[in-house]
Amino acid sequence: MNKIPVKVFADAQAAATQLASETADLIRANDDAGRPTVLGLATGASPILYYGELIRLHRGEGLSFTNVITFNLDEYVNLPPGHKESYWFFMHHHLFNHIDIQPENIHLPSGMIAETDIPAHCEAYEQAITSAGGIDLQILGIGRTGHIGFNEPGSPKDSRTRAVQLNEITREDAAPSFDGIEHVPTAAITMGCGTILAARRIVLMAWGPGKAPIVKKAVQGPVNNIVSASYLQEHPNAAFYLDQAAAANL
Ligand code: GLP
Repeated sequence: MNKIPVKVFADAQAAATQLASETADLIRANDDAGRPTVLGLATGASPILYYGELIRLHRGEGLSFTNVITFNLDEYVNLPPGHKESYWFFMHHHLFNHIDIQPENIHLPSGMIAETDIPAHCEAYEQAITSAGGIDLQILGIGRTGHIGFNEPGSPKDSRTRAVQLNEITREDAAPSFDGIEHVPTAAITMGCGTILAARRIVLMAWGPGKAPIVKKAVQGPVNNIVSASYLQEHPNAAFYLDQAAAANL
């Protein structure tokens, strides 16, 4: 019944450890071949253990990120990089400040671009991904609306990096960390579904019972624009890494 390969782990830490080990293998193989490794990265609670594991591999096992180039999925509009809820801040706090990545190899959409310059900024982001050689491994979480990145219901399969309005469910989910929904941005810049699907390997992580219903729709339901994550069914090398609770409805 599963239309996407699913790996169910004893717990989130076991999944994060496995994914970090796969990432290290990829980086080392590319290093040996003299190629950079291009990672597509996600924010939210889901990847935090994975980032912790990458830091552990860097500190304990000499994994180097010198030849790693990263592209983040998304960023809130009108939130400065120093804001504690900006994805720029999140990524530096949870990963970049603790590894040897070169700052010029870090890419996130900017939320502080003048509205009229956003289309050119998004086009440049797409170009930068292409120039880097495309994404080797894209990490994803899933929102309660089934979004990947901030591709809310209605996002076309071939959508590209662009500004989007945030769904009210998504804003409600973000409200506690912003100390109230009135402080949650209403818009974001996100890679599109087409941008994500162009990655050569995609792993979506989901933990906990709250994700079980949307995981079931994405993995077993029809492919449609109501659940953006369902598009992953049509990717040749995508997988869901779940804990027992997130997999409970499969
Ligand atoms: C935000 C991010 C998504 C993320 C989602 C789920 O909306 N833009 O990329 O996947 O939250 O977050 P969490 O992992 O905290 O459940």
